[in-house]
Amino acid sequence: MINPSSSSPFHILSCLVVFLFLPNLPSLLADPDPSQDFCVADLSASRSSSVNGLPCKPASKVTSDDFFFDGLSKEGDTRGIFGSNLTAGNVLAFPGLNTLGISVNRVDFAPRGVNPPHSHPRATETVLAISGQVLVGFVTTGNVYYSKVLTAGQIFVIPKGLVHFQMNVGQGKALAFTSFNSQLPGAAVVPLSLFASTPSIPNEVLTKTFQVGENVVNSIKSKFSS
Ligand code: GLV
Ligand code: MN
Repeated sequence: MINPSSSSPFHILSCLVVFLFLPNLPSLLADPDPSQDFCVADLSASRSSSVNGLPCKPASKVTSDDFFFDGLSKEGDTRGIFGSNLTAGNVLAFPGLNTLGISVNRVDFAPRGVNPPHSHPRATETVLAISGQVLVGFVTTGNVYYSKVLTAGQIFVIPKGLVHFQMNVGQGKALAFTSFNSQLPGAAVVPLSLFASTPSIPNEVLTKTFQVGENVVNSIKSKFSS
């Protein structure tokens, strides 16, 4: 059995690891901290050599417009099957966010519209209701469901990586803005991941998983095929 004494190389190495990594813990929980004031993304530059974030546009070419984004000012078209519309304000839409570790989306809802269950692998999310009544819920890894109906000015937080959704439960339209501690939170949308992947998940996996017949699986798949 290993019994490290306080001066053994094992002990010294463990202390070193703890001291080296402890100060960095907060930044390991989200996007890494930038090492410059800003790095407006050059979306046209090759991404082949970038690991985290996008290459910067030369600082001499940066203007105030690079820190401005008007993409969330217009109402989204909610006529799709879910009755909701998500307008993304991530680094791909708003290059000025590059390396800053934040982003924001706009979500419009028709009455009874739903932003279907999904998860963000890289970010915690806050949901701020602007108008209407928005039911927001998430499920923990222990399958506990937490939810709230939000009205204007109220916020709910979705812990990183957990499956969540929003639904308009009011009479008229609803609007929410969602914020993330990542410039590109990513989204795995449960119904699309399971029923609209390319190539498809084999039907046998889905029939066995959901304990239904192939007709049900094919019917769901057909709803998402374009
Ligand atoms: C809402 O859940 C969003 O991801 O914007
Ligand atoms: Mn979300």
